[in-house]
Amino acid sequence: MAKVRITDTILRDGHQSQAATRMRTDEMLPALAKLDKVGYYSLECWGGATYDACIRFLNEDPWERLRLLKAGLPNTKTQMLLRGQNLLGYRPYSDDVVDFFVKKAVENGIDIIRCFDALNDLRNMETAVKATKKYGGTAEIAMSYTESPVHNEDYFVKLAVDIEKMGADLICIKDMANLLLPYKAYSLVKRLKQETSLPIVVHTHNTTGTGDMVLLKAIEAGADVVDTCLSPLASGTSQPATESLVATLKGTEYDTGFDLDLLSDLAGYFRGVADRLTADGWRDPSRVLGVDVKTLQYQVPGGMLSNLIGQLKQANAMDKYYDVLAEVPRVRKDFGYPPLVTPTSQIVGTQAVMNVLYGERYKMVPKESKGLLRGEYGKLPAPVNEEVRKKCIGNDKVITCRFADTLPPELDKLKAEMQQWYEKDEDVLTYAMFPKVAPKFFEYRAAKEKHVDSTMLNKADKTMPV
Ligand code: CO
Repeated sequence: MAKVRITDTILRDGHQSQAATRMRTDEMLPALAKLDKVGYYSLECWGGATYDACIRFLNEDPWERLRLLKAGLPNTKTQMLLRGQNLLGYRPYSDDVVDFFVKKAVENGIDIIRCFDALNDLRNMETAVKATKKYGGTAEIAMSYTESPVHNEDYFVKLAVDIEKMGADLICIKDMANLLLPYKAYSLVKRLKQETSLPIVVHTHNTTGTGDMVLLKAIEAGADVVDTCLSPLASGTSQPATESLVATLKGTEYDTGFDLDLLSDLAGYFRGVADRLTADGWRDPSRVLGVDVKTLQYQVPGGMLSNLIGQLKQANAMDKYYDVLAEVPRVRKDFGYPPLVTPTSQIVGTQAVMNVLYGERYKMVPKESKGLLRGEYGKLPAPVNEEVRKKCIGNDKVITCRFADTLPPELDKLKAEMQQWYEKDEDVLTYAMFPKVAPKFFEYRAAKEKHVDSTMLNKADKTMPV
Protein backbone atom coordinates (compact mmCIF):
# COMPACT_ATOMS: atom_id res chain seq x y z
CA MET A 1 0.00 0.00 0.00
CA ALA A 2 1.38 3.33 -1.06
CA LYS A 3 2.13 5.71 1.74
CA VAL A 4 0.73 8.77 -0.03
CA ARG A 5 -2.62 8.83 -1.78
CA ILE A 6 -3.50 11.21 -4.58
CA THR A 7 -6.71 12.96 -5.55
CA ASP A 8 -6.64 14.19 -9.14
CA THR A 9 -8.53 17.40 -9.85
CA ILE A 10 -8.43 17.48 -13.65
CA LEU A 11 -12.20 17.01 -13.93
CA ARG A 12 -13.04 19.83 -11.47
CA ASP A 13 -10.55 22.30 -9.98
CA GLY A 14 -8.07 21.95 -12.88
CA HIS A 15 -10.38 23.36 -15.52
CA GLN A 16 -12.22 25.58 -13.03
CA SER A 17 -8.94 27.29 -12.12
CA GLN A 18 -7.50 27.49 -15.62
CA ALA A 19 -10.34 27.42 -18.12
CA ALA A 20 -13.44 29.02 -16.57
CA THR A 21 -14.91 25.54 -15.82
CA ARG A 22 -15.63 24.91 -19.50
CA MET A 23 -14.58 21.24 -19.86
CA ARG A 24 -17.55 19.33 -21.29
CA THR A 25 -18.76 15.88 -20.30
CA ASP A 26 -18.02 14.51 -23.78
CA GLU A 27 -14.39 15.54 -23.22
CA MET A 28 -14.23 13.70 -19.89
CA LEU A 29 -15.77 10.39 -20.85
CA PRO A 30 -13.05 9.09 -23.24
CA ALA A 31 -10.48 9.31 -20.40
CA LEU A 32 -12.45 7.53 -17.68
CA ALA A 33 -11.32 3.94 -18.38
CA LYS A 34 -7.67 4.97 -18.03
CA LEU A 35 -8.27 7.32 -15.09
CA ASP A 36 -9.97 4.41 -13.34
CA LYS A 37 -6.81 2.29 -13.69
CA VAL A 38 -4.37 4.75 -12.09
CA GLY A 39 -5.13 3.93 -8.47
CA TYR A 40 -6.12 7.39 -7.30
CA TYR A 41 -7.52 7.85 -3.83
CA SER A 42 -10.30 9.76 -5.59
CA LEU A 43 -11.12 11.91 -8.59
CA GLU A 44 -12.52 15.32 -7.83
CA CYS A 45 -15.06 15.63 -10.62
CA TRP A 46 -18.18 17.49 -9.49
CA GLY A 47 -19.39 20.44 -7.42
CA GLY A 48 -17.57 23.73 -7.01
CA ALA A 49 -18.46 25.83 -10.05
CA THR A 50 -19.10 22.85 -12.37
CA TYR A 51 -22.82 22.68 -11.64
CA ASP A 52 -23.30 26.37 -12.41
CA ALA A 53 -21.16 26.10 -15.57
CA CYS A 54 -23.15 23.06 -16.78
CA ILE A 55 -26.50 24.81 -16.76
CA ARG A 56 -25.33 28.37 -17.45
CA PHE A 57 -22.79 27.85 -20.22
CA LEU A 58 -22.73 24.26 -21.44
CA ASN A 59 -26.44 23.39 -21.55
CA GLU A 60 -25.64 20.14 -19.77
CA ASP A 61 -27.53 18.48 -16.96
CA PRO A 62 -24.99 18.24 -14.09
CA TRP A 63 -26.81 15.18 -12.71
CA GLU A 64 -26.47 13.35 -15.98
CA ARG A 65 -22.75 14.20 -15.98
CA LEU A 66 -22.42 12.75 -12.50
CA ARG A 67 -24.15 9.49 -13.44
CA LEU A 68 -21.95 9.09 -16.53
CA LEU A 69 -18.79 9.76 -14.52
CA LYS A 70 -19.81 7.27 -11.86
CA ALA A 71 -20.59 4.59 -14.45
CA GLY A 72 -17.16 5.08 -16.04
CA LEU A 73 -15.25 4.94 -12.76
CA PRO A 74 -16.23 1.68 -11.07
CA ASN A 75 -12.96 1.39 -9.11
CA THR A 76 -12.27 5.00 -8.16
CA LYS A 77 -14.04 7.15 -5.61
CA THR A 78 -15.79 10.20 -6.98
CA GLN A 79 -15.41 13.41 -5.03
CA MET A 80 -17.20 16.74 -4.99
CA LEU A 81 -16.68 20.16 -3.42
CA LEU A 82 -19.61 21.56 -1.46
CA ARG A 83 -19.96 25.03 0.08
CA GLY A 84 -21.64 23.80 3.26
CA GLN A 85 -25.03 25.37 3.88
CA ASN A 86 -24.68 27.36 0.60
CA LEU A 87 -24.54 24.08 -1.38
CA LEU A 88 -23.32 25.07 -4.86
CA GLY A 89 -25.22 28.35 -4.87
CA TYR A 90 -24.53 31.72 -3.35
CA ARG A 91 -26.89 31.93 -0.37
CA PRO A 92 -27.57 29.77 2.66
CA TYR A 93 -30.37 27.20 2.22
CA SER A 94 -32.71 25.74 4.78
CA ASP A 95 -31.76 22.39 6.28
CA ASP A 96 -34.35 20.39 4.31
CA VAL A 97 -32.84 21.56 1.02
CA VAL A 98 -29.29 20.78 2.19
CA ASP A 99 -30.30 17.29 3.32
CA PHE A 100 -32.11 16.65 0.03
CA PHE A 101 -29.17 17.84 -2.05
CA VAL A 102 -26.71 15.57 -0.24
CA LYS A 103 -29.12 12.63 -0.54
CA LYS A 104 -29.37 13.13 -4.32
CA ALA A 105 -25.60 13.65 -4.73
CA VAL A 106 -24.84 10.36 -2.97
CA GLU A 107 -27.67 8.54 -4.77
CA ASN A 108 -26.38 9.70 -8.14
CA GLY A 109 -22.85 8.55 -7.45
CA ILE A 110 -20.78 10.84 -5.21
CA ASP A 111 -18.58 8.95 -2.72
CA ILE A 112 -16.70 11.74 -0.94
CA ILE A 113 -18.12 15.15 -0.12
CA ARG A 114 -15.50 17.76 0.69
CA CYS A 115 -17.35 20.42 2.58
CA PHE A 116 -16.07 23.89 3.40
CA ASP A 117 -17.34 27.16 4.79
CA ALA A 118 -15.84 30.49 3.86
CA LEU A 119 -15.76 31.58 7.51
CA ASN A 120 -14.80 28.16 8.93
CA ASP A 121 -18.03 28.31 10.93
CA LEU A 122 -18.64 24.63 11.63
CA ARG A 123 -22.34 25.27 12.25
CA ASN A 124 -22.64 25.93 8.51
CA MET A 125 -21.40 22.39 7.77
CA GLU A 126 -23.34 20.46 10.41
CA THR A 127 -26.34 19.54 8.28
CA ALA A 128 -24.27 18.63 5.20
CA VAL A 129 -21.92 16.42 7.22
CA LYS A 130 -24.74 14.69 9.07
CA ALA A 131 -26.55 14.04 5.80
CA THR A 132 -23.40 12.76 4.10
CA LYS A 133 -22.97 10.14 6.81
CA LYS A 134 -26.67 9.32 6.89
CA TYR A 135 -26.78 8.54 3.15
CA GLY A 136 -23.57 6.53 3.17
CA GLY A 137 -21.02 9.05 1.85
CA THR A 138 -17.58 9.95 3.20
CA ALA A 139 -17.50 13.34 4.92
CA GLU A 140 -14.38 15.42 4.48
CA ILE A 141 -14.30 18.82 6.15
CA ALA A 142 -11.99 21.44 4.71
CA MET A 143 -10.48 24.30 6.66
CA SER A 144 -10.32 27.41 4.48
CA TYR A 145 -6.71 28.46 4.97
CA THR A 146 -5.80 32.08 5.36
CA GLU A 147 -3.46 34.24 7.39
CA SER A 148 -4.41 37.10 9.70
CA PRO A 149 -3.81 38.16 13.29
CA VAL A 150 -6.32 35.46 14.35
CA HIS A 151 -5.47 32.79 11.75
CA ASN A 152 -2.30 31.22 13.08
CA GLU A 153 -1.24 27.59 13.48
CA ASP A 154 -3.02 27.25 16.84
CA TYR A 155 -6.27 28.45 15.25
CA PHE A 156 -6.19 25.68 12.64
CA VAL A 157 -5.17 23.01 15.13
CA LYS A 158 -8.10 23.93 17.36
CA LEU A 159 -10.42 23.98 14.37
CA ALA A 160 -9.22 20.51 13.34
CA VAL A 161 -9.89 19.14 16.82
CA ASP A 162 -13.44 20.50 16.62
CA ILE A 163 -13.83 19.00 13.14
CA GLU A 164 -12.88 15.59 14.44
CA LYS A 165 -15.45 15.94 17.24
CA MET A 166 -18.08 16.76 14.62
CA GLY A 167 -17.71 13.33 13.08
CA ALA A 168 -15.77 14.08 9.89
CA ASP A 169 -13.91 11.20 8.20
CA LEU A 170 -11.04 13.33 6.87
CA ILE A 171 -9.67 16.84 7.42
CA CYS A 172 -8.47 18.93 4.51
CA ILE A 173 -6.30 22.03 4.54
CA LYS A 174 -7.81 24.01 1.70
CA ASP A 175 -5.35 26.67 0.63
CA MET A 176 -7.10 28.36 -2.27
CA ALA A 177 -4.46 31.08 -2.70
CA ASN A 178 -1.22 29.15 -2.12
CA LEU A 179 -0.46 31.19 1.00
CA LEU A 180 0.61 28.25 3.17
CA LEU A 181 4.32 28.13 2.39
CA PRO A 182 6.32 24.87 2.48
CA TYR A 183 7.79 25.04 5.99
CA LYS A 184 4.54 26.32 7.50
CA ALA A 185 2.76 23.43 5.77
CA TYR A 186 5.25 21.01 7.31
CA SER A 187 4.71 22.44 10.77
CA LEU A 188 0.90 22.56 10.51
CA VAL A 189 0.53 19.03 9.14
CA LYS A 190 2.90 17.70 11.80
CA ARG A 191 0.74 19.20 14.56
CA LEU A 192 -2.52 18.06 12.98
CA LYS A 193 -1.15 14.50 12.85
CA GLN A 194 -0.25 14.75 16.55
CA GLU A 195 -3.47 16.29 17.76
CA THR A 196 -6.09 14.49 15.67
CA SER A 197 -6.40 10.91 14.52
CA LEU A 198 -8.03 11.66 11.16
CA PRO A 199 -6.31 11.42 7.76
CA ILE A 200 -4.96 14.80 6.63
CA VAL A 201 -5.54 16.02 3.08
CA VAL A 202 -3.68 18.96 1.55
CA HIS A 203 -5.17 21.05 -1.24
CA THR A 204 -3.24 23.97 -2.65
CA HIS A 205 -2.67 25.83 -5.90
CA ASN A 206 0.55 26.90 -7.57
CA THR A 207 -0.33 30.58 -7.77
CA THR A 208 2.70 31.79 -5.84
CA GLY A 209 4.93 29.11 -7.35
CA THR A 210 5.38 27.10 -4.17
CA GLY A 211 2.69 24.41 -4.60
CA ASP A 212 4.99 21.48 -5.41
CA MET A 213 7.24 22.30 -2.45
CA VAL A 214 4.21 22.67 -0.19
CA LEU A 215 2.98 19.18 -1.10
CA LEU A 216 6.41 17.64 -0.67
CA LYS A 217 6.92 19.16 2.79
CA ALA A 218 3.35 18.23 3.77
CA ILE A 219 4.03 14.64 2.69
CA GLU A 220 7.25 14.57 4.73
CA ALA A 221 5.20 15.77 7.71
CA GLY A 222 2.76 12.90 7.29
CA ALA A 223 -0.03 14.14 4.99
CA ASP A 224 -2.14 11.17 3.91
CA VAL A 225 -3.71 12.53 0.73
CA VAL A 226 -2.66 15.40 -1.55
CA ASP A 227 -4.45 17.01 -4.49
CA THR A 228 -2.68 17.22 -7.84
CA CYS A 229 -3.82 17.69 -11.42
CA LEU A 230 -2.63 15.93 -14.57
CA SER A 231 -0.07 18.23 -16.23
CA PRO A 232 -2.08 19.67 -19.16
CA LEU A 233 -4.26 21.67 -16.75
CA ALA A 234 -1.82 21.81 -13.81
CA SER A 235 0.31 24.43 -12.13
CA GLY A 236 -0.15 28.20 -12.02
CA THR A 237 -3.68 28.94 -10.86
CA SER A 238 -4.35 25.17 -10.69
CA GLN A 239 -2.86 22.33 -8.60
CA PRO A 240 0.75 21.04 -8.90
CA ALA A 241 1.20 18.42 -11.64
CA THR A 242 0.42 14.78 -10.84
CA GLU A 243 3.22 13.27 -12.94
CA SER A 244 5.92 15.46 -11.36
CA LEU A 245 4.95 14.49 -7.84
CA VAL A 246 4.57 10.82 -8.72
CA ALA A 247 8.07 10.83 -10.27
CA THR A 248 9.50 12.67 -7.26
CA LEU A 249 8.15 10.11 -4.82
CA LYS A 250 9.15 7.06 -6.87
CA GLY A 251 11.39 4.70 -4.94
CA THR A 252 10.87 6.52 -1.64
CA GLU A 253 8.80 5.44 1.32
CA TYR A 254 6.02 7.65 -0.07
CA ASP A 255 5.93 5.96 -3.52
CA THR A 256 2.41 6.21 -4.97
CA GLY A 257 2.91 3.08 -7.08
CA PHE A 258 1.39 4.83 -10.11
CA ASP A 259 2.39 3.87 -13.64
CA LEU A 260 4.04 6.91 -15.25
CA ASP A 261 3.36 5.56 -18.76
CA LEU A 262 -0.33 5.43 -18.01
CA LEU A 263 -0.21 8.99 -16.64
CA SER A 264 1.64 10.04 -19.80
CA ASP A 265 -1.12 8.56 -21.96
CA LEU A 266 -3.71 10.43 -19.95
CA ALA A 267 -1.72 13.66 -20.18
CA GLY A 268 -1.56 13.17 -23.97
CA TYR A 269 -5.33 12.96 -24.11
CA PHE A 270 -5.96 15.96 -21.85
CA ARG A 271 -3.40 18.06 -23.77
CA GLY A 272 -5.89 17.94 -26.63
CA VAL A 273 -8.69 19.07 -24.32
CA ALA A 274 -6.52 21.88 -22.93
CA ASP A 275 -5.68 22.99 -26.49
CA ARG A 276 -9.39 23.10 -27.35
CA LEU A 277 -10.08 25.20 -24.22
CA THR A 278 -7.23 27.54 -25.17
CA ALA A 279 -8.38 27.80 -28.81
CA ASP A 280 -11.92 28.67 -27.72
CA GLY A 281 -10.61 31.47 -25.53
CA TRP A 282 -11.36 29.91 -22.15
CA ARG A 283 -7.73 29.44 -21.17
CA ASP A 284 -4.93 31.97 -21.51
CA PRO A 285 -1.66 30.12 -20.82
CA SER A 286 0.32 33.33 -20.29
CA ARG A 287 -2.09 34.36 -17.57
CA VAL A 288 -2.91 31.09 -15.81
CA LEU A 289 0.61 29.68 -15.78
CA GLY A 290 2.52 32.67 -14.44
CA VAL A 291 3.87 32.88 -10.90
CA ASP A 292 2.14 35.67 -9.03
CA VAL A 293 3.92 36.66 -5.87
CA LYS A 294 1.57 39.59 -5.36
CA THR A 295 -0.81 37.10 -3.76
CA LEU A 296 1.62 36.78 -0.85
CA GLN A 297 1.74 40.54 -0.54
CA TYR A 298 -1.98 41.34 -0.93
CA GLN A 299 -3.49 37.96 0.03
CA VAL A 300 -5.80 38.21 -2.95
CA PRO A 301 -6.41 34.80 -4.58
CA GLY A 302 -5.88 34.51 -8.33
CA GLY A 303 -9.56 34.06 -9.22
CA MET A 304 -10.43 37.14 -7.22
CA LEU A 305 -7.78 39.20 -9.03
CA SER A 306 -9.37 38.49 -12.39
CA ASN A 307 -12.81 39.43 -10.98
CA LEU A 308 -11.43 42.74 -9.70
CA ILE A 309 -9.84 43.48 -13.06
CA GLY A 310 -13.17 42.69 -14.75
CA GLN A 311 -15.09 45.06 -12.46
CA LEU A 312 -12.54 47.84 -12.93
CA LYS A 313 -12.48 47.46 -16.71
CA GLN A 314 -16.26 47.67 -16.77
CA ALA A 315 -16.10 50.90 -14.79
CA ASN A 316 -13.30 52.16 -17.04
CA ALA A 317 -11.11 52.56 -13.95
CA MET A 318 -8.12 50.28 -14.48
CA ASP A 319 -5.92 53.14 -13.23
CA LYS A 320 -7.36 52.40 -9.76
CA TYR A 321 -6.10 48.78 -9.78
CA TYR A 322 -3.40 49.23 -7.15
CA ASP A 323 -5.66 51.38 -4.97
CA VAL A 324 -8.20 48.56 -4.97
CA LEU A 325 -5.52 45.95 -4.23
CA ALA A 326 -4.45 47.99 -1.23
CA GLU A 327 -8.07 48.46 -0.11
CA VAL A 328 -8.82 44.72 -0.05
CA PRO A 329 -6.84 43.99 3.16
CA ARG A 330 -8.40 47.04 4.84
CA VAL A 331 -11.95 45.88 4.06
CA ARG A 332 -11.01 42.39 5.17
CA LYS A 333 -9.81 43.78 8.51
CA ASP A 334 -12.98 45.88 8.95
CA PHE A 335 -15.08 42.76 8.27
CA GLY A 336 -13.28 40.61 10.88
CA TYR A 337 -10.71 38.87 8.66
CA PRO A 338 -12.84 36.43 6.65
CA PRO A 339 -10.75 34.01 4.55
CA LEU A 340 -11.05 35.04 0.90
CA VAL A 341 -12.94 32.21 -0.81
CA THR A 342 -16.40 31.98 -2.43
CA PRO A 343 -18.52 33.87 -1.46
CA THR A 344 -16.47 36.13 0.87
CA SER A 345 -13.85 36.83 -1.82
CA GLN A 346 -16.55 38.37 -4.02
CA ILE A 347 -18.07 40.31 -1.11
CA VAL A 348 -14.79 41.80 0.09
CA GLY A 349 -13.56 42.40 -3.48
CA THR A 350 -16.72 44.19 -4.59
CA GLN A 351 -16.74 46.32 -1.43
CA ALA A 352 -13.10 47.30 -2.01
CA VAL A 353 -13.88 48.32 -5.60
CA MET A 354 -16.83 50.44 -4.42
CA ASN A 355 -14.86 52.06 -1.60
CA VAL A 356 -12.28 53.22 -4.14
CA LEU A 357 -14.62 54.16 -7.01
CA TYR A 358 -17.07 56.15 -4.87
CA GLY A 359 -14.27 58.15 -3.29
CA GLU A 360 -15.66 57.49 0.19
CA ARG A 361 -15.36 54.23 2.10
CA TYR A 362 -18.68 52.40 2.64
CA LYS A 363 -20.70 55.09 0.89
CA MET A 364 -22.12 52.30 -1.28
CA VAL A 365 -22.73 48.96 0.47
CA PRO A 366 -24.09 45.92 -1.46
CA LYS A 367 -26.63 43.69 0.29
CA GLU A 368 -24.07 40.87 0.54
CA SER A 369 -21.72 43.07 2.59
CA LYS A 370 -24.65 43.91 4.87
CA GLY A 371 -25.53 40.24 5.24
CA LEU A 372 -21.97 39.40 6.18
CA LEU A 373 -21.93 42.16 8.82
CA ARG A 374 -25.33 41.01 10.16
CA GLY A 375 -23.87 37.55 10.77
CA GLU A 376 -25.92 35.81 8.08
CA TYR A 377 -22.91 33.99 6.67
CA GLY A 378 -21.78 32.83 10.09
CA LYS A 379 -19.46 34.03 12.81
CA LEU A 380 -16.71 36.32 11.55
CA PRO A 381 -13.29 35.13 12.73
CA ALA A 382 -12.29 38.39 14.49
CA PRO A 383 -14.19 41.37 15.92
CA VAL A 384 -15.45 43.65 13.15
CA ASN A 385 -14.87 47.41 12.98
CA GLU A 386 -18.01 48.60 14.80
CA GLU A 387 -17.88 52.04 13.23
CA VAL A 388 -17.95 50.47 9.79
CA ARG A 389 -20.72 48.09 10.79
CA LYS A 390 -22.83 50.99 12.06
CA LYS A 391 -22.31 52.89 8.80
CA CYS A 392 -23.25 49.83 6.72
CA ILE A 393 -26.23 48.34 8.56
CA GLY A 394 -27.32 51.04 11.01
CA ASN A 395 -29.25 49.48 13.88
CA ASP A 396 -30.04 46.18 12.14
CA LYS A 397 -30.03 43.16 14.43
CA VAL A 398 -26.81 41.12 14.35
CA ILE A 399 -27.38 37.38 14.34
CA THR A 400 -25.21 35.23 16.58
CA CYS A 401 -27.11 31.93 16.32
CA ARG A 402 -26.70 29.47 13.46
CA PHE A 403 -28.30 31.37 10.58
CA ALA A 404 -29.97 28.29 9.05
CA ASP A 405 -31.96 27.92 12.30
CA THR A 406 -33.81 31.07 11.30
CA LEU A 407 -34.80 29.66 7.90
CA PRO A 408 -38.13 27.80 7.60
CA PRO A 409 -38.19 24.63 5.44
CA GLU A 410 -38.33 25.71 1.80
CA LEU A 411 -38.17 22.54 -0.31
CA ASP A 412 -41.96 22.28 -0.89
CA LYS A 413 -42.21 25.95 -1.73
CA LEU A 414 -39.37 25.68 -4.27
CA LYS A 415 -40.97 22.61 -5.78
CA ALA A 416 -44.28 24.43 -6.20
CA GLU A 417 -42.55 27.42 -7.78
CA MET A 418 -40.87 25.37 -10.49
CA GLN A 419 -43.66 22.87 -11.21
CA GLN A 420 -43.95 23.89 -14.89
CA TRP A 421 -40.37 22.66 -15.57
CA TYR A 422 -40.30 19.66 -13.25
CA GLU A 423 -39.11 16.41 -14.83
CA LYS A 424 -37.28 14.88 -11.87
CA ASP A 425 -36.51 15.65 -8.21
CA GLU A 426 -33.02 16.90 -9.03
CA ASP A 427 -34.53 19.73 -11.09
CA VAL A 428 -35.87 21.27 -7.89
CA LEU A 429 -32.28 21.58 -6.66
CA THR A 430 -31.12 23.16 -9.92
CA TYR A 431 -33.91 25.69 -9.55
CA ALA A 432 -33.16 26.26 -5.85
CA MET A 433 -29.52 27.10 -6.49
CA PHE A 434 -29.87 29.02 -9.76
CA PRO A 435 -33.41 30.43 -9.90
CA LYS A 436 -32.55 32.89 -12.69
CA VAL A 437 -30.58 30.56 -14.98
CA ALA A 438 -32.46 27.30 -14.38
CA PRO A 439 -35.65 28.19 -16.33
CA LYS A 440 -33.58 28.99 -19.43
CA PHE A 441 -31.81 25.65 -19.06
CA PHE A 442 -35.07 23.73 -18.52
CA GLU A 443 -36.57 25.33 -21.62
CA TYR A 444 -33.49 24.50 -23.68
CA ARG A 445 -33.71 20.92 -22.44
CA ALA A 446 -37.42 20.64 -23.27
CA ALA A 447 -36.81 22.06 -26.75
CA LYS A 448 -33.98 19.61 -27.33
CA GLU A 449 -36.17 16.75 -26.22
CA LYS A 450 -38.70 17.84 -28.84
CA HIS A 451 -35.93 17.56 -31.45
CA VAL A 452 -35.89 21.23 -32.23
CA ASP A 453 -32.79 22.14 -34.25
CA SER A 454 -30.24 22.05 -31.47
CA THR A 455 -27.39 23.45 -33.58
CA MET A 456 -29.24 26.75 -33.58
CA LEU A 457 -29.49 26.71 -29.80
CA ASN A 458 -25.82 25.85 -29.51
CA LYS A 459 -24.95 28.95 -31.50
CA ALA A 460 -27.02 31.10 -29.18
CA ASP A 461 -24.98 29.73 -26.27
CA LYS A 462 -21.78 31.33 -27.61
CA THR A 463 -23.23 34.79 -27.15
CA MET A 464 -24.10 34.28 -23.50
CA PRO A 465 -22.17 36.44 -21.02
CA VAL A 466 -19.08 34.90 -19.43
CO1 CO B 1 -8.92 24.81 -5.16
